[in-house]
Amino acid sequence: MDHLTIVRHPLVQHKLTLMRDKETSTAVFRQLLREISQFLAYEITRDLPMTTKQIETPMTTMEAPTLEGKKLALVSILRAGNGLLDGVLELVPSARVGFVGLYRDEETLQPVQYYCKLPDALQDRVVIAVDPMLATGNSSAAAIDLLKQAGARNIRFLCLLAAPEGVARMKEAHPDVPIVTAALDAQLNENGYIVPGLGDAGDRMFGTK
Ligand code: URA
Repeated sequence: MDHLTIVRHPLVQHKLTLMRDKETSTAVFRQLLREISQFLAYEITRDLPMTTKQIETPMTTMEAPTLEGKKLALVSILRAGNGLLDGVLELVPSARVGFVGLYRDEETLQPVQYYCKLPDALQDRVVIAVDPMLATGNSSAAAIDLLKQAGARNIRFLCLLAAPEGVARMKEAHPDVPIVTAALDAQLNENGYIVPGLGDAGDRMFGTK
């Protein structure tokens, strides 16, 4: 996969515009995020390894394609990653799920870890880390560090929006981790928010301030 894939599908772009609009309600924002997450998941799983198995259809025996290897692992970077989780899980219901809790120190913009619970045998799974906003890239890079420390070797990163600074940071820290996103925005502001962006993704999906 390329290091950065932008999913330019018209439905994704239309839904993203609705999400960016500050008048969009919490309920609609959450629903749109779930819907877009499925398009992004479709793209990020495009090259999953396949094998075949013999099955009986009502007509005959056939060698039919099936996913190879251990179940996928999804890792939500808390808390906003949870907004992507359910949609992806609908497509890949047997995936194992982990959580990494990182918050961003508002002054230094550096990630601080407060929680980590991961599926076993990460080294044998395709691991998809999910977080809607790739902003400075500091939290994302730190989360990927944790996954690698836990043994993961085949990692992908799924996000809704990316800033050029975050993509560059990830490319420098983890050039082996492909990123799939719905848009690459212009820049970060002085507080580390993506512009034009959509504001604080966690606040918008959970109705907090
Ligand atoms: N996190 C967010 O929720 N929004 C941004 O714009 C940047 C980081």
